[in-house]
Amino acid sequence: MQNTIRINEDVTYLGSSDRRIALFENSYPLTNGVSYNTYLIDDGETALLDTADSAVMQAFMENLFSVLKGRKLDHLIIQHMEPDHCASLGLVVENFPEAKVYGTMQVKKMVQQFFGIDLGEKFVTVKEGDTLSVGKHMLQFVAAPMVHWPEVMMTYDTCDKILYSADAFGTFGALSGNLYADECDSWTADLAEARRYYTNIVGKYGNNVQAVLKKAQNLEISMICPLHGPVIRKDLGYYLDKYDKWSSYTPEDKGVVIVYGSIYGGTANAADCLATRLASKGVKNIKMYDVSKTHVSELVAEAFRVSHLVLAAPTLDAGLFPAMETLLLELKRKNLCKRTVALIENGTWAPVAAKEITGILEAMKDMTILPEKLTIRSTAAPGDEAALEALANALAADLNQ
Ligand SMILES: Cc1cc2nc3c(=O)[nH]c(=O)nc-3n(C[C@H](O)[C@H](O)[C@H](O)COP(=O)(O)O)c2cc1C
Ligand SMILES: [Fe+2]
Ligand SMILES: [Fe+2]
Repeated sequence: MQNTIRINEDVTYLGSSDRRIALFENSYPLTNGVSYNTYLIDDGETALLDTADSAVMQAFMENLFSVLKGRKLDHLIIQHMEPDHCASLGLVVENFPEAKVYGTMQVKKMVQQFFGIDLGEKFVTVKEGDTLSVGKHMLQFVAAPMVHWPEVMMTYDTCDKILYSADAFGTFGALSGNLYADECDSWTADLAEARRYYTNIVGKYGNNVQAVLKKAQNLEISMICPLHGPVIRKDLGYYLDKYDKWSSYTPEDKGVVIVYGSIYGGTANAADCLATRLASKGVKNIKMYDVSKTHVSELVAEAFRVSHLVLAAPTLDAGLFPAMETLLLELKRKNLCKRTVALIENGTWAPVAAKEITGILEAMKDMTILPEKLTIRSTAAPGDEAALEALANALAADLNQ
């Protein structure tokens, strides 16, 4: 059955949600699935923006056939070749052999690599600034390399001022009938999920996102249509501001997140002791996470959110507690920078956790490590009180600056 949503006179949403999926990209836990968005512009000529993941292929194809009502598809625009958007490409080109396929230089080769499809003469290479006219809808292509993959481009419709933003401005979470962010709150009420999506999916490529945001400043935008999550048509400034902060690695909150690893509980207890002392010095909204129990994608998002981090970890096999090491390598991979970090280390015979953490942080940009680190041996002892107090004072002073 047709299940589409009319966005305006000429534009229809054909996307679909997958609530069965447990891990996005087989990596990021999803509690409420994800949507794969697809849009059709019908203005005499027809243009489809992206296809869909194999999980929703049947619904997507049914929607496409229903909306076209036996007419041909003239143009298929591939903004992003990742299989979550291109898995249904083969079916589309098979069923609509006359459609021209548009994408940046890399797309044709990627389609061949992934699906063994030679687009041949059908393929039209487009680049920054190229246009495609679909009746009164004049589409302008905006290169967005590495806003998730190298071949990505966005599409700006100069007629209705819609920016089709590819993976940017997306979020995790299935759609549940309501298409618009202002109708379903999914972006704003669950900003943590939008942040987790951004930081883990495109977080590494902040500079590339900044470049696209600069280009977007020159466009009058009435609506943003991403490839995942709701369509944004109100308060665009709010969303653009979040993207500006995240992509420039600017903390949203002056605040502290404490992440600890612990085998027997000693390090966890020391982290708790620090939290209490910080609170007594007026620090509010302290968030604390067990690195072994919290998915690393949530911790990456939290590290992007705040200005200050406390990392507390035991020594393991003359190295760092593995879950903490995983977190740090992930933060480094995402190019997190400009944060202040306080350290607590633990070890029963030869603690080296702080040295290991420092080594990774020093390879990241503009990370400040407070010199007042706390080393405990097995458990925090009364003799550690002075060092703990010094660490709490230094951190609170920095936060209250
Ligand atoms: C597998 C394993 C390897 C360890 N390797 C070291 C080590 O190389 N150096 C050290 O000082 N302590 C080592 N420890 C001891 C822990 O770092 C130490 O007991 C610490 O206090 C545990 O903190 P927790 O109570 O927060 O789990 C190791 C512990 C385990 C379980
Ligand atoms: Fe992607
Ligand atoms: Fe995607």
